[in-house]
Amino acid sequence: MCFNNLVNMNDLTLENLLSFVKERFSSDSSGHDYFHTLRVYKVALNLQKKEGGDIDIITYASLLHDVDDHKLFAGDNAAERYLDSVGVIGEAKRKILTIISEVSYKGVDSVSPRSVEGQIVQDADRLDAIGAIGVARAFAYGGSKNRVMHDPEVAPKLGMNKEETYSHVGTTINHFYEKLLLLEGMMNTKSAKDLAKERTAFMKRYLDEFFAEWDEIR
Ligand code: ADP
Ligand code: NI
Repeated sequence: MCFNNLVNMNDLTLENLLSFVKERFSSDSSGHDYFHTLRVYKVALNLQKKEGGDIDIITYASLLHDVDDHKLFAGDNAAERYLDSVGVIGEAKRKILTIISEVSYKGVDSVSPRSVEGQIVQDADRLDAIGAIGVARAFAYGGSKNRVMHDPEVAPKLGMNKEETYSHVGTTINHFYEKLLLLEGMMNTKSAKDLAKERTAFMKRYLDEFFAEWDEIR
């Protein structure tokens, strides 16, 4: 597929997009969401090499996928306003905004994007939630919300829908069982499934070690 107004994304267009995203996340002092976005963009481009899809659509959708994150911002349609401001309109704009709305994790209400570009961006976003970086992000998130890392008395809550996923207050260790260990089975593309398998195996080894130390077996 070819979008006339996107075929020539040049260095300047990309630089402008990167500065917009960096600026948008500048209020997050850890800078963690900007770097998360960059990783999602790079992983998405790697997945594209094997899975195909329009590179410019993947670039816009991956770099803009969290600029309207409900946890950080108050619904001011930043992605749409940005696309309008740089003249990405019509079918291309619609496609990018659809991907952004489909990507996020909503528990059992999650959707698999219809476009290959959307599937790639969703896989890249989910890959960044698992593995060594996923472990770090989970504890960083839990810490920022003053959550306890583990409480043996609290059981994981499985099968949460969108509302429950957004409002749930649980422990960080339970988040592995409530979401992170489930992501491997939710990947769209073969390339992402392979990566997810390795990263999930690492998280399971991590959890084994965590519980061994918790129970003073090691
Ligand atoms: P994404 O960027 O993949 O849409 P989210 O915005 O849902 O992810 O969450 C950002 C990061 O914080 C992810 O790594 C996610 O696993 C982690 N996170 C979200 N909710 C929790 C939670 N309740 N406990 C620990 N980590 C969480
Ligand atoms: Ni994300």
